[in-house]
Amino acid sequence: MSQRNYRIAPSILSADFARLGEEVDNVLAAGADIVHFDVMDNHYVPNLTIGPLVCEALRKHGVTAPIDVHLMVEPVDRIVPDFAKAGATYITFHPEASRHIDRTIALIRDAGCKPGLVFNPATPLDALEWTLDKIDMVLLMSVNPGFGGQKFIPHVLDKARQARRMIDERGLNVSLEIDGGVGPANIREVARAGVDTFVAGSAVFGAGKAGDPHRYDSVIAALRAELAGA
Ligand code: DX5
Ligand code: ZN
Repeated sequence: MSQRNYRIAPSILSADFARLGEEVDNVLAAGADIVHFDVMDNHYVPNLTIGPLVCEALRKHGVTAPIDVHLMVEPVDRIVPDFAKAGATYITFHPEASRHIDRTIALIRDAGCKPGLVFNPATPLDALEWTLDKIDMVLLMSVNPGFGGQKFIPHVLDKARQARRMIDERGLNVSLEIDGGVGPANIREVARAGVDTFVAGSAVFGAGKAGDPHRYDSVIAALRAELAGA
């Protein structure tokens, strides 16, 4: 059994937006660790979602868990201070969406948040060579960004092993997160590839019966049970 400290990060992209505060409360009460917050701009990705106002609203609602803001926007820098003010914990961005990666990392850090880089399924980890000691999170996309409910792309497991090696060889305390198509059927295999933080959108928010406050208990428990055997 692994000694890793695993964290489950439900993606609110698949939540009921009309009852978002309650959805987040329920998923945290069910044992989730982090709120994964997908920001899409209909430019970097072909979809449009939520911005800093919604992040701030969750904080005002009383959410104290870390909020993991995944920026799928271009340009990146303009929106960083707004998310910092809105209460973001992590701010991750896609390196190809920023003209100056090192500057964007520093901007996020200076704003008081934890920076991270996100890699699409076909993007190599090259940008980590000179950034890994300056970030808190590496996020590997296991689907192409833009939509929930897509199928996990298996070659990302090799990339996870590569990222885990890079982090461990340098003795760094950087989280390795995966995003897309993760659920009880594959989370154990993903953990074995070295991932410690697991985004799950449709697998979590699609579970149970609408209106039941305990609807997320059994899916989070199933994810934890799989991780316990990793
Ligand atoms: C996709 C988003 C994901 C998405 C994952 O661009 O970054 O966070 O919500 O959804 P599932 O878990 O359904 O693949
Ligand atoms: Zn995401």
